[in-house]
Amino acid sequence: PSTTWLDQRVLRQYQGSWLHHQMVPGVISVQRRFTARPDDVLLVSPPKCGTTWLKALSFATMARAAYPPSGTDHPLLRLNPHDCVPFVEVLFSAGQEARLEALPSPRLLHTHMHHSLLPPSLARCKIVYVCREPKDMVVSIWHFAKSIMPAGGIAFSFSDLYESACQGKHLHGPIWDHVLGYWSASKASPERVLFLRYEEMLLNPVSTVRNLARFLGMPFTAAEEAAGTPIHIAELCSIDTMRGLETNNTGAAGVLAKFPHGSFFRKGVVGDWVNHMTPEMARRINAIVEDKLRGSGLSFTP
Ligand code: A3P
Repeated sequence: PSTTWLDQRVLRQYQGSWLHHQMVPGVISVQRRFTARPDDVLLVSPPKCGTTWLKALSFATMARAAYPPSGTDHPLLRLNPHDCVPFVEVLFSAGQEARLEALPSPRLLHTHMHHSLLPPSLARCKIVYVCREPKDMVVSIWHFAKSIMPAGGIAFSFSDLYESACQGKHLHGPIWDHVLGYWSASKASPERVLFLRYEEMLLNPVSTVRNLARFLGMPFTAAEEAAGTPIHIAELCSIDTMRGLETNNTGAAGVLAKFPHGSFFRKGVVGDWVNHMTPEMARRINAIVEDKLRGSGLSFTP
């Protein structure tokens, strides 16, 4: 794909969120024509905030009866997580929504859409949301853009990306509106919306898996705990395992555009922004985000 996938010039504002222009028809179609099933599970994330990891963890947790996570024929050993969990608005944008209907229940689906854009049937599903400290998100977007760069180079600089992110103008931005929509939904209905942070997941991946299983209504049994199932899921889905798999070093994921599987696995750490932003840049974006989140009870700055 062209790096313009992440260039602000391709962005269009739709109902308050910035979308790649190719996604606008898909989002409108989801709003008009998609009816979720009551037992669908919807994974949601802003781009570059842990989507791939959440897809892997949720898929492995939900499918563990059919596919034990320590098994040698687990689908995640041969398929990229993006090929295990479909991206709703992308399939609609590509005219491939029939693929969603063909899936057996309970379906595991993914979207980058803001909460305010979801059609009512989707907003009523169980939702697992993951977000990430915004400076690290910006850095991750930058590296993703570079990793999918066509010959000829990238058309914007890190500071261009930073400036537009400060204005909320980035793919599926503004980030503060994205997080606030799901934060409010999780406060209103914690049994329906699980709000996760990438940083907390990294601190304790095994607790995250247990939390996810409980939320999905399939907590680990004593026998599964004794067999180490939550640990096996965390290990299977760890960035080190995923990055080392042959499937993630070949091929590409995506329907509208193809992204090399390997481009989804980079450092997977907290705080990489220090290598890209000056203290002044960090202070400025922190202040903008703090201001937007003020009064919500949510914060990204210690
Ligand atoms: P970095 O670029 O900071 O390394 P997304 O999946 O939403 O596109 O987000 C990509 C980010 O998640 C990248 O962050 C990537 O390295 C990280 N990531 C991908 N798989 C991961 C995993 N299994 N565990 C932890 N982080 C992961």
